[in-house]
Amino acid sequence: MASDSSVTVAQGVPAIRAGQGRSFLLRRLHSLSGIVPVGAFLVEHFISNAFATNGPRAYAEQVKFLSSLPFVPVLEWVGIYLPLLYHALYGFYIWFRGESNVKDYPFAGNFMYAAQRWTGAIAFCYIAWHTYTMRFTGIHLLTHNDAAFSKVQMEFQHPWAIAFYMVGIIAASWHFGYGLFLFAAKWGITVSQRSRKAFGLVCTGITLVFITVGILTMSSFFKPQWKNTPEHLPGWQAEQSQNH
Ligand code: HEM
Repeated sequence: MASDSSVTVAQGVPAIRAGQGRSFLLRRLHSLSGIVPVGAFLVEHFISNAFATNGPRAYAEQVKFLSSLPFVPVLEWVGIYLPLLYHALYGFYIWFRGESNVKDYPFAGNFMYAAQRWTGAIAFCYIAWHTYTMRFTGIHLLTHNDAAFSKVQMEFQHPWAIAFYMVGIIAASWHFGYGLFLFAAKWGITVSQRSRKAFGLVCTGITLVFITVGILTMSSFFKPQWKNTPEHLPGWQAEQSQNH
């Protein structure tokens, strides 16, 4: 029978195997949670923040839309915090248990294996700090939507904060981009060498798009026309009460 080279199973990223008891289920859940809901939230978060490129008012409108969704605290806890905590804590567990031996990986896989863990750890520190400063301290954005642009601008007064945002964006984008590649390999979506190579290129593209959108979004807060945006946008309160 003629052999089709396009169906050769790629080496490097083994599929998640059944028959590993409870850990099989927890591994699957870890893998899936990276895509939904955590990855889906990351996509939404990048898109929502990109509204800053249209200025403080567009940014405030987007924050208003998000904070007007029903059951916001439930959405946050069930859709973001708990799955992210699970993914992160189980991620550290996988890392420290060292389930696969790094030495078994070819160089590229080896580097990517380590990078997936380190970018996860960096993203974890960044997300913890970012959520604490933006959501749980300072002016409350769910009730003061118009203060969102200036709150970020105030944060960017500190060079260390700017650097940390850059590092956080790059780490999260890398982790998600390569995570998509890992997910497709582990769930049997890409099986052949050829499909993994092609999808690897797509994932690299996605990573670069995320980094670019993140940096363009950050740069909006430094635009001369929006310099020193006031904490409360002129006329915002009046507009809001008119609409109700
Ligand atoms: C920005 C938030 C995050 C997103 C969107 C995300 C997404 C993903 C995705 C899609 C995967 C691929 C699933 C798979 O390997 O089957 C993955 C893998 C992984 N993630 Fe995350 N993740 C995030 C945060 C974290 C954090 C904070 C950690 C903590 C260390 C972490 C640790 C890991 C590890 C260790 C893997 C690889 C698992 C393996 O090789 O089997 N992730 N992540």
